[in-house]
Amino acid sequence: MRKLLLQLDSSRLPSVFDQVVAYDAGADQVMSYGGVTETDVRDLILGCLFTRGPKDLHNTAVWIGGSNMAAGEQLLAIVLDSMFSPFNVSVMLDSNGSNTTAVAAVVKIEQAVADVKGKKVVVLGGTGPVGQRAAGLLAKAGARVTITSRKPEQGEKSCQFVNARFGVQVESATLADAAQLPRVLDGVNIFLNAGAAGVQMVSKAGWTAVKTLKIAVDLNAVPPLGIEGIEVNDAGIVKEGVTVFGAFGIGNFKTKLHKACIARLFERNDLVLDAETIADVARELMAPKS
Ligand SMILES: NC(=O)c1ccc[n+]([C@@H]2O[C@H](COP(=O)([O-])OP(=O)(O)OC[C@H]3O[C@@H](n4cnc5c(N)ncnc54)[C@H](OP(=O)(O)O)[C@@H]3O)[C@@H](O)[C@H]2O)c1
Repeated sequence: MRKLLLQLDSSRLPSVFDQVVAYDAGADQVMSYGGVTETDVRDLILGCLFTRGPKDLHNTAVWIGGSNMAAGEQLLAIVLDSMFSPFNVSVMLDSNGSNTTAVAAVVKIEQAVADVKGKKVVVLGGTGPVGQRAAGLLAKAGARVTITSRKPEQGEKSCQFVNARFGVQVESATLADAAQLPRVLDGVNIFLNAGAAGVQMVSKAGWTAVKTLKIAVDLNAVPPLGIEGIEVNDAGIVKEGVTVFGAFGIGNFKTKLHKACIARLFERNDLVLDAETIADVARELMAPKS
């Protein structure tokens, strides 16, 4: 039976990136819908549920994407609400690659530092989908997390969203120009750049001056890179006494994780893949083979 992936994208044009990875991960057909809103979801899901009998429903799955994290969360809630046992299909939320990218970065950080509990973490540009997910996961693991934004109200709003979703206490700091960087990075042990593509967030002098810093991660692959002195292919090497990861140093594992998650959607019909469950898949992939 053909493996069908229903792509529900909150953005006007359904993501081509998500479609390509879905095919590469084994989907036979991707049924793509863009500009999906809450009122569209129920009928689209019912179309999945009643076309194949319960024993075959693991061959149908749902993907939720789009650039807006909050919209993705709402679509996921309605997808789950539209299903009833035994009529379930597996579903995954990854708005803007947020969950897979954030999880890939977080598990690499965890591997490098052993335990993030009590560590001071700053997520630069943490108001975007990737930064919010990373902040939530790191805080949930016990880190003391601050996200930065150029605008205080935006930082506060994102904190509220993350804190409500993950049950944590992430804080925000305003970072509107480079002069504010020493204050924001004071005492930091780990920092993660999740700022927009093509924006340098930290100069080399800015991070090498921080004596408490142990790990620095840049997710931006588009020049100029987000953290000066960290290259895209850096993957856990030590520079200036700091373990560093660049965008491909994280992104290669992100792609592997993304594909593994899609494949798992077709193994059963009741899997829900969101930040925490995607992190479980990532830790399995990272575990040494016995
Ligand atoms: N390596 C990978 O595999 C991978 C996968 C996916 C994404 N990414 C990268 O991960 C990063 C985060 O993705 P995202 O979708 O969450 O990012 P995003 O939403 O595009 O941007 C994140 C935040 O950056 C801030 N920002 C925007 N323009 C800025 C500017 N000119 N100067 C300073 N700050 C600015 C904004 O925060 P405020 O407005 O609140 O200041 C925004 O909320 C991006 O660099 C993306 O390319 C990497």
